[in-house]
Amino acid sequence: MNLKGRNFLKLLDFTSEEIAYLIDLAAELKAKKKAGILHDDFRGKNIALIFEKTSTRTRCSFEVAAHDLGLGTTYLDPKSSQIGKKESIADTARVLGGMFDGIEYRGFGQEIVEALAKYAGVPVWNGLTNEFHPTQILADFLTIREHFGYLKGINFVYMGDARYNMGNSLMVGCAKMGLNFTACAPEEYFPDKELIAQCEEIAKESGAELRFITDPMEATKNADVIYTDVWVSMGEPDEVWKERLDALLPYQVNKKLMDNASEKCVFMHCLPAYHDLKTEVGKTVGEKFGLTELEVTDEVFESEKSIVFKEAENRMHTIKAVIAATV
Ligand code: CP
Ligand code: NVA
Repeated sequence: MNLKGRNFLKLLDFTSEEIAYLIDLAAELKAKKKAGILHDDFRGKNIALIFEKTSTRTRCSFEVAAHDLGLGTTYLDPKSSQIGKKESIADTARVLGGMFDGIEYRGFGQEIVEALAKYAGVPVWNGLTNEFHPTQILADFLTIREHFGYLKGINFVYMGDARYNMGNSLMVGCAKMGLNFTACAPEEYFPDKELIAQCEEIAKESGAELRFITDPMEATKNADVIYTDVWVSMGEPDEVWKERLDALLPYQVNKKLMDNASEKCVFMHCLPAYHDLKTEVGKTVGEKFGLTELEVTDEVFESEKSIVFKEAENRMHTIKAVIAATV
């Protein structure tokens, strides 16, 4: 398998064998790190990290992974570069492409990261756009494989806002890797019809079953993984909270849903999560609407079934695999 020079913009661009290779490589690099075996073969190389939206996991993962591999990093925060304001993406890509061996981009439309990749001449990695969050899926699948020992045939249920980056990318990932994917949401929160049609074609090869269900009890029956994400994503205005709560509160992941699922069912979330009022946003929204938890209850989040922190750690190992495979 040779992915040298490839971009990592969305899972649709990769075969199931290539995705499996990246997950295997991540497991290998994780084992090396745990054993204290140095793997810094990329000394002398450098990567740029562009963040037009905030981040904890993705930024730290790229930085730690790069340092472990021996690469230098330059972080460009949401405010202090010229990108977009004084310099176009095409110009930025050619400037950075001349200095760096790879570029990570987190921001808004998928077309921006695609344009960056078109002009950079070095690998470009999508660290989250409105449409896709592909590095997150690698971490999620490594975590599921570690927990269950396999991916094919897992009953994966995504609750909540399934038409944004997480719902879209998880559906593509499941279709590629043969996990049965259920989106459980009101119909207007199902993924885009064209993307569903594309995934249905892909699923014919992998054997994955794709389902779109509005009833939480029906959707979660026999689930092995119940997954959710925030109901209002970065870049969306605060005004949408009311419509989201009205639509998605019935889709909150709580104990009743977990108990309805398979006995071995685990809870996953890309994080950050509003499972209590200990965050600025959680507190403001909670107090305004009389709630103490949002997309997931604190009881589920803190339960033994929750594997969210293993999942978060795996962001770093899987991002390391993407860098190591493509630079
Ligand atoms: N899951 C995730 O991408 O987290 P950050 O926003 O903290 O990077
Ligand atoms: N849907 C969320 C994912 C965060 C990792 C967002 O875009 O804010």
